Amino acid sequence: MRALVTGVAGFLGSTLAEALRGTGFDVLGVDAFTPNYDASVKRANLERLLRDPGFRFVEADLRRADLNPLLEGVTHVAHLAALPGVRSSWGNSFREYAEHNVLATQRVLEACRDRNLARVSVASSSSVYGSAERAPTPEDEPRRPISPYGVTKLATEALVHAYRKEYGLPAVALRYFTVYGPRQRPDMGIHRFFEAGRHGTPVTVYGDGGQTRDFTYVEDAVRATVASLTLPAPEFAYNVGGGHRVALRELLDRIERLVGRKLERRHVEPQRGDPRDTSADMKLARRDLEFLPRTSIERGLFQQWEWQRKT
Ligand code: NAD
Ligand code: UGA
Repeated sequence: MRALVTGVAGFLGSTLAEALRGTGFDVLGVDAFTPNYDASVKRANLERLLRDPGFRFVEADLRRADLNPLLEGVTHVAHLAALPGVRSSWGNSFREYAEHNVLATQRVLEACRDRNLARVSVASSSSVYGSAERAPTPEDEPRRPISPYGVTKLATEALVHAYRKEYGLPAVALRYFTVYGPRQRPDMGIHRFFEAGRHGTPVTVYGDGGQTRDFTYVEDAVRATVASLTLPAPEFAYNVGGGHRVALRELLDRIERLVGRKLERRHVEPQRGDPRDTSADMKLARRDLEFLPRTSIERGLFQQWEWQRKT
């Protein structure tokens, strides 16, 4: 079995590639080191993999590279490459979001379509729901994103649906809910809050801190992804959540206890595009992917702090 992992130098992609090696896959990883954060951080994510003879890395941009040679001998595809981040997707940056998340995904699915692949797992996001009415939110909730990023992920999913329906491509979309843990992107909340704890600088809190997130530990998200590649997975989309909804102010209290100091919390206006609450209904993932998140928020934050204080 050989897996192609796109976005392999990123937070989720590098962790997934390591897990796939652990389950006996050969892995071909692709990444373009896009500048959403420092390339040196992404290169560090690859360090362990590059020492592994069962892993091969190709630097290529999915918006234009010839994808056929990359798919030679590949049996499974995990397409995680994208431009992530909800709040930065307004204004002129939308062009980049559309290119990386929609056009590149279309090229990947097109290149996959006539190959006899066992499975294609594509990264979607809780952001497709926007301000969901039901909590926990099941997969059949109307998808009404409230950020341009969410709109690109909705289009990603629509492409998955079209290739599934018309070409019988065995593709599935995973809706990850705010993932955290070692290697978390530096633009994400928990990463920023620990940095503030390390350096004694203030944190910016968007809104009153009463918003909630279904924070998902990276190893749990990766386990669900491996299952989406290897188990039957008949549905078109699955929620992948952490199993606990935490308010931001409670998260900050926990971070203060871990770093051993109070954080100065500077409250600013809520940000456009941020849903107030997210919460994953996990029935489908439990039934088909045998997925139950295992990591408590206490344990997950501890693990991220242990990693981040040493970087
Ligand atoms: P990340 O930025 O760390 O990783 C994405 C990687 O994709 C980067 O290394 C980037 O260089 C690469 N990439 C982007 N465009 C590319 C292109 N055109 N060609 C080749 N490589 C390209 O982000 P992440 O947090 O690991 O997110 C991974 C995926 O999961 C994304 O699709 C994201 O939208 C989705 N997602 C993430 C979260 C989260 O909380 N981290 C939640 C929901 C969904
Ligand atoms: C995250 C990822 O960044 C998206 O790529 C992903 O698609 C999305 O999860 C998802 O679940 O689909 P987000 O929930 O905004 O998006 O994750 P964080 O950046 O970690 O923010 C978490 C919470 O902290 C949000 O309520 C945000 O407003 C808040 N926050 C973040 C702050 O108050 N201050 C900050 O400096 C950063």
